[in-house]
Amino acid sequence: MDTVLTCLRAAAEPTRLRLLLLCARAELTVSDLTQILGQSQPRVSRHLKLMCDAGLLERFREGAWAFYRRAARGDAAVIAEALAAMVPVDDPELALDLERLNQVKRARAESADAYFTAAAGDWARIRAMHIDEAEVERALITSMSPRDDARPIADLLDLGTGTGRLIELFGPSVERAIGIDASRAMLAVARAAIERAGLNHCSVRQGDVYQLPFPGESFDAVTLHQVLHFLDDPAAVLQEAARVLRPGGRLIAVDFAPHTLEELREVHAHRRLGLRDSDMRGWLARAGLTPAAPQHLKGHPLTVVVWAATRPFAASPARPTTPTATLAEFAL
Ligand SMILES: C[S@@+](CC[C@H](N)C(=O)[O-])C[C@H]1O[C@@H](n2cnc3c(N)ncnc32)[C@H](O)[C@@H]1O
Repeated sequence: MDTVLTCLRAAAEPTRLRLLLLCARAELTVSDLTQILGQSQPRVSRHLKLMCDAGLLERFREGAWAFYRRAARGDAAVIAEALAAMVPVDDPELALDLERLNQVKRARAESADAYFTAAAGDWARIRAMHIDEAEVERALITSMSPRDDARPIADLLDLGTGTGRLIELFGPSVERAIGIDASRAMLAVARAAIERAGLNHCSVRQGDVYQLPFPGESFDAVTLHQVLHFLDDPAAVLQEAARVLRPGGRLIAVDFAPHTLEELREVHAHRRLGLRDSDMRGWLARAGLTPAAPQHLKGHPLTVVVWAATRPFAASPARPTTPTATLAEFAL
């Protein structure tokens, strides 16, 4: 009773209901929310504190930034999910909030795209700046090796393929590899690398990792190498990745463990300062995958983590959606 009443009291105010809806759609900072709602920062912060105290929202700190999102754990999380689903998104004020949220996301995507356009030619050097790439690639090869509880890898999808390093690495051992990336500049470098390596059965395409242009159950493995820390909503992308995995298929995500190198945000367009094991485990499980124990590759100053998960053989699709193109259209 107490939890329900506390949650209902906290949500029973127009601004706070708007905050709940927004934080159910993305992980947002106070300044994002201030911009979207058009209200002062102290006022928005006060509402956020009340929502966090009630357990409807979670606040987490990353370096100098604090993010808010809908709670994912506990009794209040169930109420938060139900309330967010009940909010009428066609209400004019809420529809405007969601439009402004999309503007914030678009602006961020444009600045990331500008960063990758500038970085494309020099990407191999930038990627190796903070990590031992050979060690990471050895770990990746191990994660992709044959296993009894996973299907053999013939069709590979690399999300946020960038300059196509993973296609170069795994292309020779699969029947088909496709890379998806938003940046035309990065893809131009990837195409040249794939051609140079003679990987005629591999290709790259411009696309959005949130909306993959493939039917469900199209791939045996999906990789995300250093992509999730650029995204507003990693959980949604993992869900989309799980959708295109065949039963027995595996998802391998490589990214940084939580860190405090603020300059990566300022200079290199990172959205998140690393990802937590607990978040990844929850997101993978909610996407219908079975996560394995993460592998931590300790480096200085950054630790890289390999998260692997398998789609169970008997499972039904995690979230069926309508494909916008068939795999055949992407065949070479
Ligand atoms: C750090 S790079 C990693 C590239 C490559 N995986 C590697 O490790 O070298 C991240 C890539 O994700 C791409 N990206 C970011 N957001 C994306 C989105 N929503 N859809 C598709 N690609 C995206 C960027 O364009 C960029 O090429």
